[in-house]
Amino acid sequence: MANKVKTIGVLTSGGDAPGMNAAIRAVVRTAISDGLKVKGIMRGYAGLLSEEIVDMDSTSVSDTINRGGTVLYTARCQEFTTPEGQKRGAEICRKHGIDGVVVIGGDGSFRGAGKLSALGINCIGVPGTIDLDIACTDYTIGFDTAVNTAMEAIDKIRDTSTSHERCSIIEVMGRHAGYIALWCGIANGAEEILLPERYDGDEQAIINRIIEARKKGKKHYIIINAEGIGHSTSMARRIEAATGIETRATILGHMQRGGSPTCKDRFYASIMGARAAELLAEGKSNRLVAYKHGEFIDVDIQEALAMQKDISEAQYRIAMKLVR
Ligand code: ADP
Ligand code: F6P
Repeated sequence: MANKVKTIGVLTSGGDAPGMNAAIRAVVRTAISDGLKVKGIMRGYAGLLSEEIVDMDSTSVSDTINRGGTVLYTARCQEFTTPEGQKRGAEICRKHGIDGVVVIGGDGSFRGAGKLSALGINCIGVPGTIDLDIACTDYTIGFDTAVNTAMEAIDKIRDTSTSHERCSIIEVMGRHAGYIALWCGIANGAEEILLPERYDGDEQAIINRIIEARKKGKKHYIIINAEGIGHSTSMARRIEAATGIETRATILGHMQRGGSPTCKDRFYASIMGARAAELLAEGKSNRLVAYKHGEFIDVDIQEALAMQKDISEAQYRIAMKLVR
């Protein structure tokens, strides 16, 4: 297809994720290398609607690959979910000479990218979220850093939990998805892994297992609870009352979204960001860059959003063998 796109924009939207800067850097440098001009759109769709648009060159992204967060900032924008907001967004792109946009974010951000594509602005999405909850891809930028951050924090909690012979409930992020909980549950050698996709709510069974483990001489009892289940503090109170074992809840929270990205996040973000810019240069639109079965591919946005994702049953089955 002919190269019709001359100037592209790049934005980050929704929750930030470590590695977003590596993706921005790759978009900027690849686009410049392919002869395109690049503009940074600050604060996601909110910044598009308020015309916070800056010229970017190769040096705009110097010294950013190792930094957490996003140098373009991010936001959530209600106005852009309306047809009027989307129309205005497309008009602002045209006013600034932007004929293609790379959107780095999650499912919500891709819905916006789909709408902008339908209004004639070529859009390519790049999956950036710590939650790993985007169905069309086996990898999302930020997940690797987030699970490593959470794993290190949980190791530390385990030390004090053992010293005090306590039960510890540690709540990890993931919105409605249990991927961070599953990975940390396995990697931290937890005694319980509670996932929104699988948890049956049987707290009495957990209490029975804690009492049994204590009888066998287990010093700590680590429960990894996913944010999608929540209620860690009240769960801790009930467990302590029922078992007589001191129980503490720790909600790891936003620390999981920060920090210098791991090598894996920098590498995948660099390839995905570069592919997004290349796809725009090739005249493509309404596609998401994805990583599936060991390959970087691109997928139609509406098809991607219609896909369902679930925890791997094989991985869950093994996790349930390892915790006991
Ligand atoms: P994420 O991209 O991480 O899933 P959100 O769901 O918060 O994060 O979405 C980010 C932004 O994408 C929203 O604030 C909104 O501006 C835009 N967005 C979300 N859903 C839609 C939609 N259906 N149509 C257009 N834009 C949307
Ligand atoms: O999507 C990333 C994420 O960190 C989720 O894990 C979490 O549910 C949500 O964002 C938190 O959003 P906020 O930063 O608005 O509190």
